[in-house]
Parts: sequence; structure tokens; C-alpha cells
Amino acid sequence: MGEITWELFEQQVEACRLCGLCRNIKHKVPGQGDRKSPLMLIGEGPGRDEDEQGLAFVGAAGQLLTRMLAAIQLPRDRVYICNVVKCRPPQNRIPTPEEAEACKIHLRMQTWLIRPKVILLLGSTAAKDILGPDARITRDRGKWVEKKGVWILPTYHPSALLRDESKKPEAWADMQNLRDKLRELGLYQDIYSGETEGTTESV
Ligand code: URA
Repeated sequence: MGEITWELFEQQVEACRLCGLCRNIKHKVPGQGDRKSPLMLIGEGPGRDEDEQGLAFVGAAGQLLTRMLAAIQLPRDRVYICNVVKCRPPQNRIPTPEEAEACKIHLRMQTWLIRPKVILLLGSTAAKDILGPDARITRDRGKWVEKKGVWILPTYHPSALLRDESKKPEAWADMQNLRDKLRELGLYQDIYSGETEGTTESV
């Protein structure tokens, strides 16, 4: 294989026809953010707003995600944000395991390029994709898994928090847990915004 570069990654995503999802989209959504960040966030797949703009997590769920990060003083442009699938599933349905598998080549390349130290998995689809099909978000959220020296934390998807506010305290605890791990690994100051700590209300 030739050298893996961001340019190659972008070309590969743009040219990809490995599953049928690309037939119904406006834009591919490869992911965006700080490519040198030690922290990578993985969601499920683009929704309507993301498909319109070609950017991950820019709709209502994305705005909540921005606030969740801000609550532990992480500006979202200092982390890298992407999804399991890079094309919007019709009617925002959950991507099938086959679609997720087809798209894995892109996520692998992306992870290789970023070399994150910590990964936050947003929701069940990301948890199953990265931790295996037996992962259950309600059971496994908030529990760290170490894989090949990378620390992985599953938490609720922000869309789930928008649907069910009662999950927010657990999501808040997960964000604190994330902050503590980043501190422990000596990475927090690299991403930290320097602003006053947020509150639960701001999430
Ligand atoms: N939900 C996701 O999983 N990803 C996005 O980019 C937006 C909403």
C-alpha cells in the first residue's frame, strides 16, 4: 500500500461506492476537527443537517454535543469528530451492520491518521461498531475499555439525551469521567479552553 495521507482518505471517501447509502445523499460527511487532537469522537451517521452541509454533528444533536464538551471546557474545534458511516442513511435510520462494516475502511484510515489517545463513542451504533455487536449502551456506558493503548469510553448519543432528558445526569458523569481520564493521561491541558467550568445546566 502507498502512504496513507489525509488527501488519500478524502479521495477515498468521495469515491466510495461500497454500500448503497451514497445513492441518496447530498454530501458525504467524512468528519472534521483537529486532526492532531488526542481525543476523537465517533457518532452514528449524518442526519439531514449534516448531509446538507457535509459536516458532522451540526444539527440539534451537534449543538448539544458542543455544550457537553464546553461543560468540561473542551472547545469542539480542538477535538476530532466523525461518524461510523459517512453517508446519511435514509430517514435517519440506524446504519445496518453491513453498511457500518463497508465504511470501516474509512474509519480505520481516519483513526490511523489521527492516532487518538482517547475515543468517546456516542451511542449504541458506535459502541457496537468499535467494541463488538454485544455492546449495550445502557450497560456499558461510562466504563473504560483499553484497546491497543487507546482508552475508549462509550456514552449516550446526544440525540438520545434530546429524546430522554432523564439520561442527562449519566451523560454528565461520563463527561466528567472523560475529563478525569484526559487529566490522568496528561492530555487535558492540550485541549482545555481555559474558560470557567461549565455547569450541569449548561448541558
Ligand atoms: N448524529 C450522528 O450520529 N452524527 C452526526 O453527525 C449527527 C447526528
